[in-house]
Amino acid sequence: MSDPRLAVIERRFDKVGKVIAVSSGKGGVGKSMVATSLALNLRDQGYKVGLLDLDFTSPATHVILGVEGLYPEEEYGIIPPIAHGLRYMSITHYSLDEPAPLRGVDISNAIIELLAIIRWEKLDYLVVDMPPGISDATLDTIRLVPKLEFVVITTPSKVAYQSVRRLLILFKNLGISVRGVIENMVMKPGTDIRSDLAKIEIDYIGELAYCDELEEAIGDPARLAETSFYKKIGELSPKII
Ligand SMILES: Nc1ncnc2c1ncn2[C@@H]1O[C@H](COP(=O)(O)OP(=O)(O)O)[C@@H](O)[C@H]1O
Ligand SMILES: [Mg+2]
Repeated sequence: MSDPRLAVIERRFDKVGKVIAVSSGKGGVGKSMVATSLALNLRDQGYKVGLLDLDFTSPATHVILGVEGLYPEEEYGIIPPIAHGLRYMSITHYSLDEPAPLRGVDISNAIIELLAIIRWEKLDYLVVDMPPGISDATLDTIRLVPKLEFVVITTPSKVAYQSVRRLLILFKNLGISVRGVIENMVMKPGTDIRSDLAKIEIDYIGELAYCDELEEAIGDPARLAETSFYKKIGELSPKII
């Protein structure tokens, strides 16, 4: 018997213009920081924006936004609360900071459940903070969420880039739309990531320098907006949307 939730999910995205999934082969490369800063920048530009944290094992966007105690309204589904002008949904609205003891199939099931019950209102962009790599959660999101395009984050490290490259090739083989790659935490010029991406026909969106002010801005979006990191994401945003 087919899962009735699956048919519902596509309709839940009827009013969403475009879904931007921020992903990487690895953790710790800046996905959550980029996803949150991108969502806030697009809000600054006057768009209606949502932010969905799907990294159930290490949710982080609530820490970056500095929000807690948000409760979604329930009405024929759930309506994401507003945080800093974003329609914002995270598993932490339910689990708070308890570790989510979810594995494999459980995570898939929780993601399907969440996608099936959220009622997104009219949004120009929904930014999704994805779990790292190709997990069941990633594959489910690809399978279920319409209008999805990936932005992939790497660092200059060969270790990070190798796993990103594998992810990109997999996306290509699966026919998944990739907007491009952002190189984050760049400390000196001249890695060969840009030229290697050209070989596999993936766009290089741009680089984000290592930013000393970032750590102190966590939890304070007004302060985040003052950082060079945030401003650079604003500059790159036309190439992302
Ligand atoms: N450009 C940058 N400069 C300095 N620190 C950064 C930069 N990008 C991310 N960070 C820091 O690196 C850590 C990991 O970032 P995060 O966004 O949580 O990664 P991910 O979501 O990929 O696991 C965070 O402490 C974040 O503040
Ligand atoms: Mg993260």
